[in-house]
Order: sequence, then C-alpha cells, then structure tokens
Amino acid sequence: MNTTIRRATLKDAVVLSALSKKTFYDTFTGTCTEDDMQQFLQAYFDLDIVKKELANENDLYFFIEVDGVPAGYLRLMEDYSNFPLMKQWKALELKRIYIDKLYHGKGLAQVLMTFAENFAKEKKFEVLWLGVWEHNNRAIRFYEKMGFKDSGHTHDFPIGNTPQRDNWLWKFFEG
Ligand SMILES: CC(C)(COP(=O)(O)OP(=O)(O)OC[C@H]1O[C@@H](n2cnc3c(N)ncnc32)[C@H](O)[C@@H]1OP(=O)(O)O)[C@@H](O)C(=O)NCCC(=O)NCCS
Repeated sequence: MNTTIRRATLKDAVVLSALSKKTFYDTFTGTCTEDDMQQFLQAYFDLDIVKKELANENDLYFFIEVDGVPAGYLRLMEDYSNFPLMKQWKALELKRIYIDKLYHGKGLAQVLMTFAENFAKEKKFEVLWLGVWEHNNRAIRFYEKMGFKDSGHTHDFPIGNTPQRDNWLWKFFEG
C-alpha cells in the first residue's frame, strides 16, 4: 500500500464533506435514531461548514491517502473550549480520526496517529487529548494501544436528542 499524508485545503471540501459523512455514519449508525443521525450529518459535515473549517488556518485537517485516494482523515486544533482544564498545558486536541472501514485493522490508523503525535511534538505541545464515546470499544482499544490514558473526565456529546457521553483521554509527552 502506498500511503501518504497531506493537509487538506479548500479544494478538498467536497471530498472531505463526503468522507466525514460516510465514516461518521458507518461508525455511529444504530446508536441513535436515523433522524438524529441525518440532522447531525448536516449540522457538522455539510459542505458549507467544511469549507469554513478548511478556510481557518488553525483548523488542521489531514488526509491519509492510499494510492492518491483519501482513505481517512485527521483533524487537529489547539482549542480548549470543550475541556478548559487543558489550558494549564500547551495542549493539542485531536478532534477527529476517521478511517474508512475498508482500511480498519490495516495499520493506517497507526500511521495517522503517529503523524499527529510527531506534529504535536514538533510544535512543542505537551499533550495530545481527545474525546471518545464511552461505548466505542474499537477506538478505545486503539487509543490504549497508542498510549492514551483515561483522564477521568467526561463530557456529554449528544447526537440530536440521543444522549451520549464521551471520555476525555490524553497522552503526555516526555520532557
Ligand atoms: C478508531 C480507528 C481509527 C482505529 O483504527 P483501526 O485500524 O480500526 O485500529 P486497529 O485495528 O489497529 O486497533 C483496533 C483494536 O481494537 C480491537 N477491536 C476491534 N473491535 C473491537 C471491539 N468491538 N471491542 C474491543 N476491541 C475491538 C482490535 O482487535 C484492535 O486491537 P488489537 O490490535 O489489540 O487486536 C478506526 O477503527 C476508525 O476509524 N473507526 C471509525 C471512526 C472512529 O471510531 N473514530 C474515533 C472516534 S473517537
């Protein structure tokens, strides 16, 4: 597999919007009503929203591509709004990591996560943190393998009217 990682730009908005919708749907279908799902997809991943985010230089989207075709994406941002406790450190939020299900278990996620960590270290962040739905066992296992620890803090992240709770995980860097 020939994999590359590159920052997504405004030109990628259509592809990113479609990939975000597909991977979110594949991951969370069945955990909420179809109505809630459709509203969420529109509210978070619609083309106009994705365009606005891509236009923000602090909002960092990256694709992982297999033979030039996006197979997953990563979103990083220094943003303390959802977890202000993190302000005591220079902290980077891993807002999303989504790999198309065709490529689960094939090592792409590790490559993308290693990229995120190296990026954070290069920019002198002290810690990388993220939220994971408490029942997303595959993702939790993956994060654990990658050295993340449960911070003991949680936050509510409903999909429409369906209540869901995320656990905040973190990974501090040495020295
Ligand atoms: C989370 C994600 C990036 C991980 O990538 P991946 O390629 O699937 O990860 P891996 O296969 O290396 O690791 C998953 C681990 O979970 C295990 N696993 C799989 N299904 C599981 C389940 N239902 N319960 C518990 N563990 C499970 C796997 O066996 C593997 O562990 P192992 O290597 O010790 O055997 C990818 O699955 C993904 O994109 N999922 C959909 C989007 C998502 O959930 N993103 C995170 C949102 S917070």
